[in-house]
Amino acid sequence: MAFKIISVVGARPNFMKVAAICEAIKEYNRQGRSPSIDHVLVHTGQHYDANMSDLFFNDLELPKPNLFLGVGSGSHSTQTARVMEGFEKVLLTEKPDVVIVVGDVNSTVACALVTKKAYWSADDERPFIPKLAHVEAGLRSFDRTMPEEINRIVTDALADYLFTTEESANQNLKREGVPEDKIHFVGNVMIDTLLRYRAKAKESTILSDLQLHEQTRIKAYAILTLHRPANVDDTGTFAKIIESFLDVSRHMPLIFPAHPRTLKQIQEADLGDYFVDHFMEGPEPWDSRVRIRLVPPLGYLDFLHLMSCAKVVLTDSGGIQEETTILGVPCITLRENTERPVTLTHGTNVLVGADSEKIIEEFARVMRGARAAVMPPQFWDGHAAKRIIQMLVDDHAPTERTDLPNWQDGKIAASLRHA
Ligand code: UD1
Repeated sequence: MAFKIISVVGARPNFMKVAAICEAIKEYNRQGRSPSIDHVLVHTGQHYDANMSDLFFNDLELPKPNLFLGVGSGSHSTQTARVMEGFEKVLLTEKPDVVIVVGDVNSTVACALVTKKAYWSADDERPFIPKLAHVEAGLRSFDRTMPEEINRIVTDALADYLFTTEESANQNLKREGVPEDKIHFVGNVMIDTLLRYRAKAKESTILSDLQLHEQTRIKAYAILTLHRPANVDDTGTFAKIIESFLDVSRHMPLIFPAHPRTLKQIQEADLGDYFVDHFMEGPEPWDSRVRIRLVPPLGYLDFLHLMSCAKVVLTDSGGIQEETTILGVPCITLRENTERPVTLTHGTNVLVGADSEKIIEEFARVMRGARAAVMPPQFWDGHAAKRIIQMLVDDHAPTERTDLPNWQDGKIAASLRHA
């Protein structure tokens, strides 16, 4: 009998993570192994704009979702409740063995709650509760004012399989009393996707679209992404941060693919004077206007290529801290804390909060050519999703394992079982 897995996507940062899981399941099924995996992809619709969702399905060759819940925007509770209502119906119809949720968005926690409260009669008439797998478990910012931190804590408390990306996550979970046999240190599925698409991203035309070439050379430019409520929801804080970016844009073009919630804030707080619309007003001459250059949210391949060639990235995103770690591009993070400390110890990441002086100081350091030595974190090697699928299959139907591929043998396999 097939082993049935539901994977959930909802918001933009989920797509690159689940893409790796879809690929690993496809590869597993291609090998004709038993049990075969019946995979159902559910999109909650938390992000619904073409450039927040559809672009990613194309770029990442994701299969069309089998089910779309269409929940859209709303307050946190409204959004979470709508996902729960829709997902309960899916679960009771599909009756999966395992539900995989990724990351820390509202769709993640909503589907986790539904999974661990649902049950139905199994073949032997006994109640069956599906297993919950959390990919990217154990990350903690220790800042409970972040909605994502609440989502992480609740999802981890419910999960049967906690798949972690870095050692700090293993330690956090152990400290919280999670039994060690539930914790599986497998690596980073988002980096699986980055490594898979890195070569293809080089074919992107984004640098010429944004006129970032100077004859045959690529101009020095910086990228900005900003969407956290703590940075953009308060007009005073947002305006202060922008002022420090103007200093950056005096030295090089600052390209800002703006998230919809940030754009809304720019309009509502009347901050438009700080920006130019790159595509409407044209890129040149850079030095005649000290402004931040707004562009729409970009697709995965365009953004990956833009990031790979950037002089520096300024961001408040979680995922970008990890991606720049692997790309070796300096990353200045506009947050007081990070749930991904390995990006500080092994990557290029520095935390500056919303402190203008620190932002300018760190930017000056990058301009002087100071670069942190990069050391790829353990298991960020392109095989995390395969490890996850292998673990789920083994646990579902323990079988004799033969011919282990090299990503799974020796030390790695040992540390998989117990982080
Ligand atoms: C969500 C995640 C955040 C993640 C981010 C990445 C939660 C709690 N937050 O934040 O962790 O880093 O996604 O993008 O789940 N909107 C649109 N079109 C869309 C999506 C959103 O216009 O396709 C607008 C709506 O006005 C909405 C606002 O953006 O109210 C915020 O969207 P929402 O999904 O609630 O949170 P994000 O800020 O995107």
